[in-house]
Amino acid sequence: MKICCIGAGYVGGPTMAMIAHKSDKHIVTVVDINQARIDAWNSDTLPIFEPGLDEIVKQARGKNLFFSTEVDTAIREADIIFISVNTPTKTYGMGVGRAADLTFIEKCARQIAAVAEDDKIVVEKSTLPVRTAASIKRILEANSNGRNFQILSNPEFLAEGTAVSDLENPDRVLIGGDQTPAGLEAIQTLVDVYAEWVPREKILTTNLWSSELSKLTANAFLAQRISSINAISALCEATGANVDEVAHAVGTDSRIGPKFLKSSVGFGGSCFQKDILNLVYLCEHFGLPEVAKYWNGVIEMNDYQKRRFGSRVISSMFNTVAGKKIAVLGFAFKKDTNDTRESAAIYVCKDLLGENAELTIYDPEVSESQIRYDLDLSAEDTSVTVCDDAYTATKDAHAILILTEWDEFKALDFQRIHDGMELPAFLFDGRNLLDLEALRKIGFEATGIGQGE
Ligand code: UDX
Ligand code: UDX
Repeated sequence: MKICCIGAGYVGGPTMAMIAHKSDKHIVTVVDINQARIDAWNSDTLPIFEPGLDEIVKQARGKNLFFSTEVDTAIREADIIFISVNTPTKTYGMGVGRAADLTFIEKCARQIAAVAEDDKIVVEKSTLPVRTAASIKRILEANSNGRNFQILSNPEFLAEGTAVSDLENPDRVLIGGDQTPAGLEAIQTLVDVYAEWVPREKILTTNLWSSELSKLTANAFLAQRISSINAISALCEATGANVDEVAHAVGTDSRIGPKFLKSSVGFGGSCFQKDILNLVYLCEHFGLPEVAKYWNGVIEMNDYQKRRFGSRVISSMFNTVAGKKIAVLGFAFKKDTNDTRESAAIYVCKDLLGENAELTIYDPEVSESQIRYDLDLSAEDTSVTVCDDAYTATKDAHAILILTEWDEFKALDFQRIHDGMELPAFLFDGRNLLDLEALRKIGFEATGIGQGE
């Protein structure tokens, strides 16, 4: 098979690398309009940080895995074309702030229609509103000139930071397609690609719409669990309960299960908020305001959690952080990634900057330019200093905020950090990562999420 993927991002890059890595029968070409990104994929420093990714890319690259900006050529030569371009929340017009912007998807469909010379299987990899496949199909069919295009939906469930292991051992692979003989044949072709390494019983096949909706629903359910435990965290703080203990007690019920019950400063990432907003918009579109309101509550709770964290920092520090140096440890939306999209850290930092705090920020993988970009800082702005290590960031600080659960923060010498800080030394653990009791023993005024008095 010749496989092409349009969009060399966090999803397209790792997924295609895994397909190429697992079977040298397939020639996989990942294309992108962003030359710098493609150059990075072809270099020693890949554009995204994912544990284990370097090895599989380096093994397959140049043999059966290629990265290129030659989009037309790759489309023309491919049997299967994955579309994995970004689908951000709309920033204009109808559905602004909620609906998915499908400009890039439509552009891809038109480009495929324009350059394809023979039959193609077109696979939606990007998360899309339900029935997007119908639009792609109409564009392709209107321009088909006798060629046969089969549209499949094959949403990706990988989580960043664990992309390689999630791809290697997925809970399931989902493939939706038309329930016609040609559609079923296309589904089977894609099943065979994954069956190179995924057990057949884990490859689920459905109709197109079920597949599209399952992806939005899975993300909504995951995010809902986090908002649920975060809602309880506020109650824990008010009542003296400990949210980690509550989560453990609740999660040991086998019907509930222990995963995704970690209370935090709020969920981030490119998917949860975008997909739920999308779901909410769809429900409204189909005249289901009660359903829309129900899911919108998950987002509202997350916004509340992010704001609540910043407010607690300010109120604990004698109601003012103006001119105070606050060290922020962690800026990525979760550990083991350099991705900052929708990171709770962005919201917390902006709130504190709005109170005239001075921030020193350290993240093991996020670059200074990315941090300054996310915080809308001009080059001259000195309210934020980005540091190369946690010790420099915390020197002379009044408070420390843990905003990403990087493992290396657990191994820090907190006695040394405390000795270098202004007193009282505040520590706000937005991930419940550290042993707060031990920190209090060495003099920190340490608080976590959902830890009642
Ligand atoms: C994206 C979507 O955000 C997500 O909903 C979906 O499930 C998978 O695709 P991600 O891979 O994280 O996720 O996005 P991003 O890292 O932004 O990568 C998209 C790439 O597509 C970018 O490199 C962009 O340059 C490229 N692109 C975009 C094209 O090559 N052509 C276009 O027309 C538009
Ligand atoms: C998510 C889905 O997990 C994945 O299946 C989908 O394909 C894309 O969206 P991702 O956003 O990469 O993946 O990471 P995830 O591990 O789900 O974490 C999302 C956010 O929730 C992070 O900010 C994380 O810190 C937070 N989180 C996660 C919690 O606050 N508590 C938890 O218990 C779990």
